[in-house]
Amino acid sequence: MSSIFLDTLSGNKTTRPPVWFMRQAGRILPSYQKLKLKYSFHDMMKNKELASQVTLMPIDDLGVDAAILFSDILIIPESIGMKLEFTDNGPKFHNPISLNNISSLSFDATKLDYVYSNIKQIKSINKKTPLIGFCGGPLTTFLFMFRGDEKDKSFNNALKFFYSNKKESVYLLEKLTEASIEYVQGQASSGIDCFQLFETYCGIIPSELYKKLILPLSTKILEAAKQKNVPTIFFPKNFNDGLRYINKDICDFVSIDWNLSIEYARKIVDSKVGIQGNMNPRLFYSSYDDIDIYLNNLLKFGEHNDDWIFNLGHGFLPDIDYKKVKYVVQWIKETNWNRN
Ligand code: CP3
Repeated sequence: MSSIFLDTLSGNKTTRPPVWFMRQAGRILPSYQKLKLKYSFHDMMKNKELASQVTLMPIDDLGVDAAILFSDILIIPESIGMKLEFTDNGPKFHNPISLNNISSLSFDATKLDYVYSNIKQIKSINKKTPLIGFCGGPLTTFLFMFRGDEKDKSFNNALKFFYSNKKESVYLLEKLTEASIEYVQGQASSGIDCFQLFETYCGIIPSELYKKLILPLSTKILEAAKQKNVPTIFFPKNFNDGLRYINKDICDFVSIDWNLSIEYARKIVDSKVGIQGNMNPRLFYSSYDDIDIYLNNLLKFGEHNDDWIFNLGHGFLPDIDYKKVKYVVQWIKETNWNRN
């Protein structure tokens, strides 16, 4: 398969940066919002036809260079016995983690089989668009497993547990890692072309602590993809100066949030690792002129950095105007990036 996205991931020169967006599947697309009137998120994710349709929607509706599987990071807790519900106010678990239920969790790999058949279905419908598979980083997944009340977005329960029950926390983080490794390999065997690890809440603990306790686990999950020859992207959001620990033994590309400038991130990340990012999604709330200024400022970076994938610093917000997104994709594709 020849594609500008896969060429960039494997270190080949291209005429422009490839582009895709975190949370491009669903959320902002009118055709998705129409489907949502009829089906719940959970139902769509588990239905082969609907999941494939939503995964591929942004290819036609936005013109992006890659598709990301329509699924969620919280299906790993579901696969180890947690009762997940997506409410109108976000996800929650009916049996949030406590000292009482932690030892009763057990991984049932068959609960993920539907994801593998979704991947095969997507690849059979569209062979030429690269498909990104994913799962949550151990810390991010861990934090959500304590959420029994969807309105409490604080993660206070999870963090209190993490600091006061170290042994049990490590046990749970390792259990998540084992399940994630099997899940990544299942996705790879089913046909994904790239794997992204979403460690969205990396910055909720000090970067030194993340490096010592969690980064070795995240690395193992990413290694599982590499073993299957699937290129990897790691998104350790708000890792800040921890980015200097990222090297090629961990991932092929690292996705940068919008707190750092992309030039600074490029300086502190190992030069063998490519960069993805890092437009602030809220910039889509501003005028086309302001968006143009942002894009024009990236021209120099894009000219000198072939190992760069254009993306957001985090996912779309639900009320973003998809026409502006389409405009950005078109701008990236039609601009002369002065690469020879
Ligand atoms: O990028 C994509 O579009 C692919 C699909 C995808 C979803 N979730 C679909 C989804 C991906 C990659 C995720 C990852 C995810 N899920 C993360 C990590 C990345 C991030 O954005 O922070 C996290 C923390 C979750 C957990 C989760 N799932 C939350 C907090 C919520 C509710 C609020 C929200 O963000 O929408 C979900 C639900 C969810 N996951 C929806 C979608 C399309 C919303 C369903 C709806 O349309 O109501």
